Amino acid sequence: MAVGVFDSGLGGLTVLHAAMEKLPQQAFVYYGDNANAPYGSKTPEEVYDLTCAGAQRLFDAGCDLVIIACNTASAVALHDLQVNWLKDDKRVLGVFVPMIEELTSRNWGDNSPPTHTGLHDVALFATPATVASGAFERELKFRARDVEVVAQACVGLAAAIEEGDTVGAEALVYAHVATLLQDLPKPQAAVLGCTHYPLVEDKFRAALPDGTRILSQPDIVSDSLVDYLERHPRFKESGGITYLTSGNPVETGRSAEMFLGKSLPFVSA
Ligand code: DGL
Repeated sequence: MAVGVFDSGLGGLTVLHAAMEKLPQQAFVYYGDNANAPYGSKTPEEVYDLTCAGAQRLFDAGCDLVIIACNTASAVALHDLQVNWLKDDKRVLGVFVPMIEELTSRNWGDNSPPTHTGLHDVALFATPATVASGAFERELKFRARDVEVVAQACVGLAAAIEEGDTVGAEALVYAHVATLLQDLPKPQAAVLGCTHYPLVEDKFRAALPDGTRILSQPDIVSDSLVDYLERHPRFKESGGITYLTSGNPVETGRSAEMFLGKSLPFVSA
């Protein structure tokens, strides 16, 4: 069966394409909820309902394993969705915990008490909803002691990227980084906690102090998917890629071009 990949819009394509490189035979179904993007400015209840609907759409498309390739949905909705909503033998994985496991050098599912990891301060750049959820700090504290997280809600950035507004997106990166550096002048690591932000990673790199480690979410999440499929081979299946959208398929396919350098054959979900 195909692996489902869900995002509010096009940002999850950064994760899908890293996964396709590492798993060239695997069948995937991508679903972008473009009609309802962006999620980052919505209430937790709205994000929860939309995330359940998105996962259900991918289950209906025949996927038993769904990656929520959206930090906002992972941070705000994933825990409740797994505990209160998920049924049968379906599985839903997020993009947040693999980043934190990488930051704290933990293996998957290592639930031992928090340790000193050498990590002392981390900058988080994410959507307003992700920052408000406090999920990143919470998950990090389960694993690492004495880490300070300074989080910057990057208002407007995912939308500017989604719209292809490169000048606006660059200006927003510089403004948000400058605001964060006032509180944390030399972050040890920076987490780009939104699947849209790898598209402007070079701008973050230029705006952050030299030597700041920037975590690459597409790489980390796709590595953890490879590992997960090794441990759960029932989710593996060879096949092609299907692109679904709740928005206008022609416009969505065209907008995908700026993400991946080629337009994609989106169809209506
Ligand atoms: N790409 C999504 C994320 O990772 C959200 C962007 C949005 O819909 O606001 O957070």
